[in-house]
Parts: sequence; structure tokens; C-alpha cells
Amino acid sequence: MTNENSIDELKAMVGRLIKIEEEVVDLTEKTINQAESVTVKYLLKAIQHDSRKHADFGRAALEILEFKKIVGPQERKEVWELLKKHDDMEKRHREFVAEIRSLTKTPALKYIFEQIWADEKKHHAILETLMTKRFEKDPVAQWGALLNYYD
Ligand SMILES: [Fe+2]
Ligand SMILES: [Fe+2]
Repeated sequence: MTNENSIDELKAMVGRLIKIEEEVVDLTEKTINQAESVTVKYLLKAIQHDSRKHADFGRAALEILEFKKIVGPQERKEVWELLKKHDDMEKRHREFVAEIRSLTKTPALKYIFEQIWADEKKHHAILETLMTKRFEKDPVAQWGALLNYYD
């Protein structure tokens, strides 16, 4: 993916991805409204948040494809403080979720806590990356933490 054509193609495809995720959000909304079981409603809502997240990841990818800066030099110090605070919270919360997860053997509950824990792990990796990497035209070698196949 180095020439202009393939970048344009990738941008178009990411645009499609965002659209599809948005459609899924709407479809899920309809299903949530019609579902009778409260548990089903909340599990669908959780999936819906993921679809929103995927659309946001898509938007982040588009920004990178446009070579715009995500964390600009001027706002960096302030943003850094907030990211640090968030990362500390996430770290404590991840340990807390791990503890909750260990307290039940009920498969449905284990499944739910496992989903949260797996997401918290990802949040940590993303925040660490946000705090230590730059996003515009980063050399691929610096992204080892998120792209674990470069480890
Ligand atoms: Fe998705
Ligand atoms: Fe989190």
C-alpha cells in the first residue's frame, strides 16, 4: 500500500467500513427496541458500542490516511496529563475487572466479564501507544506494541 492508487482505494474501503458500521448501529437499535428480554437488550447494546467503536477506529484510520495529526504539538502537554490520568484509571480498573471475573463460575457471567477484561487490555495498549507514539507517518517499526507481529 504505497502508491497513490492503493491509498485512494484503501480510503474508499475505510469509508465503506464506517458506513457499514453505522448501518449496523441503526439495525441494532431497531432490534434493541423490539427485544423483550432486558439481558438481550443490554448484550445488543454492548455490541452496538463496539460498532460505534469500529466506526471511530475507521475515522482514525482515515485521518492517518489523510496525513493529518491526531495529537498536535500544541495540545500535547495538556492531552498528555489527561491520557496519563486515564491510563492510571484503566490500569486499576483492569485489575478490578480481573478480580470480578475470578469470583464466578457461571458461564454467562464469566463470558460477560471476560469481554470487559479483554477490552480493558486493549484500552491499555491503545493509551500506551497514544502516549508514546506519533501518528503522522510513523515508521512501522515503532508500532510493535499494537502490531504484535512486529515484536
Ligand atoms: Fe464492527
Ligand atoms: Fe477501559
